[in-house]
Amino acid sequence: MLTILCLLGCPGTEPETPPEPAPDPVPLAAPKHVVLFGAVPEEAYGDPPPSRALVDLGRMLYFDARLSGSGALSCNSCHDLARYGTTAAATSGDPGEAGTARNAPSTYNAILQFKQYWDGRADDLEAQARSALLSPQELGMASESAVIEAIKAIEGYGPAFEAAFPDARSPITIGNIARALVAFQGGLTTPGSKLDRYLSGEGGALSPEEIEGFDRFVSTGCVSCHSGALIGGGMFQRLGSVYPYETEDQGRAGQSKDPVEEKIFKVPSLRNVTKTGPWLHDGSLDSLEDVVGRMAHHQLGRELTSEEITSIVLFLETTMGYPSSDYIEPPELP
Ligand code: HEC
Ligand code: HEC
Repeated sequence: MLTILCLLGCPGTEPETPPEPAPDPVPLAAPKHVVLFGAVPEEAYGDPPPSRALVDLGRMLYFDARLSGSGALSCNSCHDLARYGTTAAATSGDPGEAGTARNAPSTYNAILQFKQYWDGRADDLEAQARSALLSPQELGMASESAVIEAIKAIEGYGPAFEAAFPDARSPITIGNIARALVAFQGGLTTPGSKLDRYLSGEGGALSPEEIEGFDRFVSTGCVSCHSGALIGGGMFQRLGSVYPYETEDQGRAGQSKDPVEEKIFKVPSLRNVTKTGPWLHDGSLDSLEDVVGRMAHHQLGRELTSEEITSIVLFLETTMGYPSSDYIEPPELP
């Protein structure tokens, strides 16, 4: 009898102290939102991280206007790091054969996107950098050999390339220029936003009004395209997926000539978006409220009141993160 009872637990056999209850999970501010989004990392260098010499070389190249066809433009002219990685100009550069002038997207967090350019024609930042050197919309150099000559003509670059590529016999190549630019851009992230603090469990990081804007962004359906850590940058979609959007730019069809891809663009990241206007692929809109209202209409078939728009814009402001000010300091050029 006693044995049977003891199977159910006798006082003497019980552990002296009850097992520690599992620690409470960190209270998540908004679990349903955490799944849909994510924080911007402190850096996105990849593994193994680049050497200091490689990053420093990339920074010099990023700021060096001698790499442009006109001799007047550096990456930083159009992707100004002191201005959230973009410029106030609606479109920049000469559209060239593409025929469509586009707005310069931000280089901050760009490395985390699934494709590069508004139409996603570059698979990654390395392909993008190679193209940026020659594109008439970007640096506009005449040829790859002109780029190499320009670099070789600047004495100080020799040792900088040797330090960055210690194993290479002749390190000044287009591939290595692109690699250095990518290495530098790996550090161009904008962590520490109010939104990221909120997503990591700091409930008070957003005001009730900002949380309302966040909820509205999700419940309106913006999140069906703008999701992930970058709140975008992860898929292609048609501009005008519900109601057609008036624009000359054919998006992906401009490259592929496939009518199925007409007006299909990369869904842009909305990180720091309150700072990166004017907006859209052609920089045609200079009011973010206007963009949000049109997005709701053209992408979702929904009409938002001006209060709802203001509320979403308030949320978008919370995505603003903080680049490291030392990192983006213009370097001394060789
Ligand atoms: C004259 C202005 C200009 C200069 C100079 C310039 N860019 Fe750009 N950049 C643009 C424009 C415009 C686009 C968009 C083109 C498109 O999507 O067709 C772009 C696109 C990009 C993108 C893609 C971002 C995204 O979200 O898709 C990156 C990254 C980038 N540039 C980096 C650079 C780098 C690195 C340099 C220097 C080697 C550079 N750019 C020089 C104007 C410029
Ligand atoms: C069906 C997919 C889809 C939905 C839903 C959607 N968007 Fe977009 N969004 C896009 C695409 C594609 C673009 C790029 C348009 C272009 O070509 O300029 C864009 C661009 C934007 C831009 C401009 C970003 C920039 O850097 O210029 C903002 C802001 C924006 N969307 C906010 C929103 C908001 C707010 C909502 C909800 C009301 C929303 N979007 C819903 C696909 C979508």
